Amino acid sequence: MLGFARDADGHARLSGTRLSDLIGAAGVATPAYVYDLDAIAEEARALSGGFGGAPHVVAYAVKANSAGSILRAIAATGAGADVVSGAELELVLACGFAPERVVISGVAKTDAEIDLAIARGILAIQAESVEEIERVAARARAAKRRARLSLRVNPGVEIDSHAHIATGHDAAKFGIARSGLDRAWQRVDAAGDALDVVGISAHVGSMLATVDPYLRSARAVCEAARARRVAGHPLQFIDFGGGFGIDYGSSAAPAPAEFARAAVALLRSEELSDLMLVVEPGRALVGAHGVLVASVVQGKRSGERRWAMIDAGMNDLIRPALYAARHRIEPLDRPPSGPASRVVGPVCESSDDFGEHELGDPLPQQVVIRDAGAYGYVMSSVYNGRALPAEVFVAGGAVQSVSQSRGSAEWIESRLGA
Ligand code: LLP
Repeated sequence: MLGFARDADGHARLSGTRLSDLIGAAGVATPAYVYDLDAIAEEARALSGGFGGAPHVVAYAVKANSAGSILRAIAATGAGADVVSGAELELVLACGFAPERVVISGVAKTDAEIDLAIARGILAIQAESVEEIERVAARARAAKRRARLSLRVNPGVEIDSHAHIATGHDAAKFGIARSGLDRAWQRVDAAGDALDVVGISAHVGSMLATVDPYLRSARAVCEAARARRVAGHPLQFIDFGGGFGIDYGSSAAPAPAEFARAAVALLRSEELSDLMLVVEPGRALVGAHGVLVASVVQGKRSGERRWAMIDAGMNDLIRPALYAARHRIEPLDRPPSGPASRVVGPVCESSDDFGEHELGDPLPQQVVIRDAGAYGYVMSSVYNGRALPAEVFVAGGAVQSVSQSRGSAEWIESRLGA
């Protein structure tokens, strides 16, 4: 069975194999991320199936998890990628993504990143401001090439999500405001042969719990696409962005394929179905299919309060500290049951706190932090002189590869040299 599950004896499994066995076979110390490559590839395929034959690109948002094993597994499904730096671009091309399925987003692309995107001939550079359009045109002229461009529209849509992950409202730094589109098209047209505008895009924010805000944003993109067409200019694709939510244990989210089906239906009703549809999911492909395994270092009782101090902290998984996100934490080798303990990490910050979880008494030796496949390792840091966690990649129920923890010796060395 793919993904996370618990067997009849209460042991947590990933891809059908006990996590404790996978950790043992990998020979890693905790904290360690463990990912199910088959479940991730299956997730990408299921999303692709939601387009029902309509031309599309599932452009995986690499920022969610940029491990090479994961990128290669996703590339093998025929997916594309959404990157936000030159380094991510080089990485995805080295992992087998076809350049014509890659877009680059980001509000502050450097000249070097724009040059790289032009040289590699990717599907499109997503322009996030009128000013950037001119800079891309200048770089294209300098390279004597034509840059393929997509205008990223800020749809002006509020979403019900944490403020840090809402991107499509008027006050966000992302995209070109709808009121600025006329000016944007003027700049595009003035740039002549330097630019080939092939697409229009938006990304409204993360953790969407329903398709409704996605469609509201998508309608704004369609409106811009139609206006461009009426003015007699061809377009190749329309990109509705990512943001598909997942169920972290407290509220269900639509399956990613539902977003795809809704997007296809919208394009049809807007009479734009000849355009290729691009979506940019990150979390939805990887979030549920990675866990962080940690050891309980110390229990503590003070009055009525029970604490479990674990060896994973906010430096390993920052989502709870940064967005008040809740990840389920359970004993590794028995099902969760009371009493509950407050689970905290070793970092000297009060926000290094994962909340209350039913770990039982006595505390287990090891715990599993669920749904940690997206925005986990990629946001980790060495704060407090901590090592970066190990990563274990599982395929066919067995360890396929291991990336060892980047340890303290390296950290001491680098700080000595600073
Ligand atoms: N496209 C663009 C242009 C984006 O900025 C993002 C995410 C995505 C796609 C993918 O969004 P997703 O499908 O993963 O929701 N660190 C935060 C999430 C930040 C998202 C940033 N942009 C978290 O841990 O919740």
